[in-house]
Amino acid sequence: MPVLSPSLLSADFGCLARELAALEEAGLSWVHWDVMDGMFVPNITIGPAVIASCRKDTNLFFDVHLMVERPGRFIGQFVDAGADLICVHAEAETHLERTVSEIARLGARSAVALNPHTPLAMVEYLLPQLYMVLVMGVNPGFGGQKFIPFCLEKTRRLKEMIIAQDAATLIEIDGGVTLENASSLSAAGADILVSGSAFFAFPPYRQRHEAFMAAVAKQ
Ligand code: DX5
Ligand code: ZN
Repeated sequence: MPVLSPSLLSADFGCLARELAALEEAGLSWVHWDVMDGMFVPNITIGPAVIASCRKDTNLFFDVHLMVERPGRFIGQFVDAGADLICVHAEAETHLERTVSEIARLGARSAVALNPHTPLAMVEYLLPQLYMVLVMGVNPGFGGQKFIPFCLEKTRRLKEMIIAQDAATLIEIDGGVTLENASSLSAAGADILVSGSAFFAFPPYRQRHEAFMAAVAKQ
């Protein structure tokens, strides 16, 4: 059964502490932070200071997605802010192996994100050391977009690659995840499903979480 990691991009940024408390109260264990720098993606969101200010009030697992150019510059700041997992984009880092090694060295779980067009080959040699690979289901930058259909087959092929290497790497699907496609994404190999608009637009959160879990159970 996959974990649901709600993307705060679709939450109320005016009361993040209350949103985090509501997620925890509703039984969620992960939360997805979308960090955007306006360069790697045409949008700007939050930085390490916001994450640090929320860290002390919640035990949720902070799944931090850096949509940032040259993210290696900021790993230390996000670890210090309380990130449990740091995901960097393969397209944004020249020395990707060095950056994912640094994430692990500093004590966080390491992950690499792939934009829809980016081949799985970009992570083939990194799988044994990666905690997770994030498969983007949309072009990054905004919530509320439609899932790109070929990303389902891409997920299946990534799962095959992980099995072939006898690796323990988890798969996260991020972007365009809905109640309607959650089951097929899970069957394709997703271990974590990120949902922003299809989750936060349908409170109460406990019932929405249960609806996602029920949808996946129908596999
Ligand atoms: C997009 C972000 C996603 C997004 C998901 O760049 O990485 O996490 O917020 O939102 P939905 O589920 O609405 O596509
Ligand atoms: Zn994301």
